[in-house]
Amino acid sequence: MLEELLNESRLTGWAVGQGTLAEVRLDAAMLRWTEVPTRRGGPSVATLRPVDQTEAQPNSLSARYGKGPQPLHTDGAHLLNPPDIVVLTCETTSTTPTHLWNKMRGGPYVQGASDLVRHGVFLISSGNDSFFSTAYGGGRLRYDPGCMLPCDARARQAVQFFEQEVGSATQHQWSEPGQVLLIDNRRVLHARASAVHEPQREIQRLSFHLNREAS
Ligand SMILES: [Fe+2]
Repeated sequence: MLEELLNESRLTGWAVGQGTLAEVRLDAAMLRWTEVPTRRGGPSVATLRPVDQTEAQPNSLSARYGKGPQPLHTDGAHLLNPPDIVVLTCETTSTTPTHLWNKMRGGPYVQGASDLVRHGVFLISSGNDSFFSTAYGGGRLRYDPGCMLPCDARARQAVQFFEQEVGSATQHQWSEPGQVLLIDNRRVLHARASAVHEPQREIQRLSFHLNREAS
């Protein structure tokens, strides 16, 4: 199932299937993908629930945006080696869609923003190991306004660009139980829509590094 979804995602950057968290983990193990915890020392499976600013993990998007709409981002942007693939599963259904944005068009080209994402410099806050990076480099996107501070004019323009782009993102609707959404975290930005109306929403997330030899 996971291999099929990865193949399907080559065109758009994401793919939707049906399955359970256990099936995803089993498939990933067979493909020799490596699970990546997106929080240091944290579990590799995360249960995502809408939380208010006050109950959120420090430096998380929820700490800044609470249950409101999230900005477009990649997962694990604070990591030197962010996950390649993010898999979200929902056992039930949810009325809060996930926005998906992919305008990479197969290369280092983002319409209207190529220069900004390749040259604008951000400071990535990652505890004691902060570092500088652009939003695009080495064939992948890295962007999360929650942990990336723009350091120059082009980076600030990149932030504005991504803020505007949420309007042109595709909405994934969690309309059937047991959906699996595979996101290529190297070239797709995602964001949860406002979940103020759905505080009970529960999504499971697994993040992976691909087996480089096979991929
Ligand atoms: Fe995310």
